[in-house]
Amino acid sequence: MSERTSIHGQWSSRLAFILAATGSAVGLGNIWKFPYITGENGGGAFVLVYLLCVCLVGIPVMMAEIMLGRRGRQSPINAMEWLARSEGVSPHWRLLGWSGVVAGFLILSYYSVIAGWALAYVFRAVGGAFEGLGPEGVKALFDRFVGDPEALLAWHTIFMVLTMIVVARGVRSGLERAVTLLMPALFVLLLILVGYALSTGAFGQGLDFLFKPDFGKLLFHCEVVNGREHCEFSGSPVLIAMGHAFFTLSLGMGAIMVYGSYMPKGVSIARSSFVIAIADTLVALLAGMAIFPIVFANGLEPGAGPGLIFQTLPVAFGAMPGGRLFGTLFFVLLVFAAWSSAISLVEPAVAWLVENRGMSRVRASVWTGFWVWLCGLVTIFSFNIGRDWRLWGKTGFDLLDYLTANIMLPLGGLCIALFAGWVMRRASSEDELAMGRLGFGLWWGVIRYVSPLLVLVVFMHAIGVF
Ligand code: PFF
Repeated sequence: MSERTSIHGQWSSRLAFILAATGSAVGLGNIWKFPYITGENGGGAFVLVYLLCVCLVGIPVMMAEIMLGRRGRQSPINAMEWLARSEGVSPHWRLLGWSGVVAGFLILSYYSVIAGWALAYVFRAVGGAFEGLGPEGVKALFDRFVGDPEALLAWHTIFMVLTMIVVARGVRSGLERAVTLLMPALFVLLLILVGYALSTGAFGQGLDFLFKPDFGKLLFHCEVVNGREHCEFSGSPVLIAMGHAFFTLSLGMGAIMVYGSYMPKGVSIARSSFVIAIADTLVALLAGMAIFPIVFANGLEPGAGPGLIFQTLPVAFGAMPGGRLFGTLFFVLLVFAAWSSAISLVEPAVAWLVENRGMSRVRASVWTGFWVWLCGLVTIFSFNIGRDWRLWGKTGFDLLDYLTANIMLPLGGLCIALFAGWVMRRASSEDELAMGRLGFGLWWGVIRYVSPLLVLVVFMHAIGVF
């Protein structure tokens, strides 16, 4: 059989794939979301569960997802259908691809709004808006900004247009080169921020918060209401930690699968997955190590929510030497990290429209981009005029985030694990993964039993079965 390739092209090398997939994985999830959910869920114990989920579910599912993508060589919907048929099972497995397309669509709708905040902060940093401002001033600046729906809409629009331009041109051109340069730069900047955090006098307290597990906090969800901490029993911190493992590694919705479909044969899937997961985890931990010392040194609230990094890092930029330059660079790099992730969120949908609807990439991008942009209004209003609109006690933004990251992605990941472990013939996976016997045996055991069981147990815990 001659080797199959994707009609959308292929990455030029192993490194190109790793960079693109790391570009997808490293984004707002690491620098914006990880610190604030860690802050809301009590710190160390939450981080420990998240790390365990990365190892026991994240890495094995990532290998499965890349493998399915490379074997299917099409958009996730068509790849799943093709794989199911070739394994002699129902083509309805394509629904897994559909759920991914919907999840990517919903995630991008709020992701783009937050990336818009980062974009706006680039200009505030350039203009020196943080200089000497202090924690109260920075908070007031943030509150004023998110309270203005028109400003949020403008920045969200700019970010969506930037994203769809790259998607329309095809993920390969430009993306590879941009990521090669920007990822290492982001890493260096985070190191500089950790260096600053060392000088705040609260570095030890920050590290304690991040790495000292207090399991009581994992069972109780705490929120600050009118300046007072309010805690109640909840199964959800564990689910949030697991959901975040999927979110941060871009798993469970076909993003890594579609990137896998452009991966050349002969590249090691296992090795690539480890490199991506390690880089992703390092960035998140560095972000935490930079942010929490600043939080404690300035008497700020770790559970401040989605505004956390926008209310803490500017305090540091306003006080440190060279803060204007570092602040600008930081927000520029954050926008780039968000941008390389955003692209992968719509790629499954765009690839499907090109394959099945005969659309050009440009039309497919404009079409998807428009609907995602419109859906972004839900998130924009959640921070101002719709702050008090609640469904099941959650704002529109919270609901979108919860539904996608904590339900759709883990369920998608569970189905991927079941398909790879139980539906695909062992020989097909063995051929595609091409690992040593020991390594393959280990992955096979984990993907069949450990990952699916863990996801199920966490779901059952979250709905209160035990
Ligand atoms: N992994 C990205 C981040 O951490 O910011 C977000 C993301 C991208 C999630 C792509 C899911 C996805 F398919």
